[in-house]
Amino acid sequence: MKISLDINGKKQEVDVDPNTPLLWVVRDHLNLTGTKFGCGMALCGACTVHMNGNPIRSCVTPVSSVQGQEITTIEGVTSSDLSKESNAVVEAWEDIAVVQCGYCQSGQIMSATALLKQNPNPTDQDIDGFMSGNICRCATYKRIKEGIKQAAQSMKVASINPSSNDVAINVDDSLFYDVGNEQSTVAQKTESVNASVMDQEGGADHVA
Ligand code: FES
Ligand code: FES
Repeated sequence: MKISLDINGKKQEVDVDPNTPLLWVVRDHLNLTGTKFGCGMALCGACTVHMNGNPIRSCVTPVSSVQGQEITTIEGVTSSDLSKESNAVVEAWEDIAVVQCGYCQSGQIMSATALLKQNPNPTDQDIDGFMSGNICRCATYKRIKEGIKQAAQSMKVASINPSSNDVAINVDDSLFYDVGNEQSTVAQKTESVNASVMDQEGGADHVA
């Protein structure tokens, strides 16, 4: 059966069984292999893609069910409608060196991007809840959380000072490790980070 798809902003047509999981169509028919197979049962998150900006598990999504929807894979997310969030996530991932083996990471980035779209200033608890379906066998969870917080912070600074878009933000570790869920403390530290970045003329230190 011929099925029309909108993948990464391009119209595509595939001739497959309508029950074929979207994951296999993306990987085997469209050669977009950044999206990974892990469990095949919606349990690990490795196969996460976006449908209309929301994360879905492509391993259990029949391809016929996404006709007429906007599908984004890891290959297209930095130029999608969620480009602000995804570019902030990718930059933070690189700064912090989140990735270990990398197998789970496209799914992690897709979920982190969707989280920041829905909640640009997530608490630790928000992150734990939203990301709980993305498993990492290398246990990079601490760095993933750091990455999401750094991405949220850089988006916030960029919204205040658009000229800082290309500046990597120097966020001290205590922002990530010591604040717990104390919103007032987070707010104070956030103001302090913003002030220090705004005081510099495009010369914020990079996070090591
Ligand atoms: S492969 Fe889809 S959730 Fe694990
Ligand atoms: S980085 Fe290896 S599985 Fe997550």
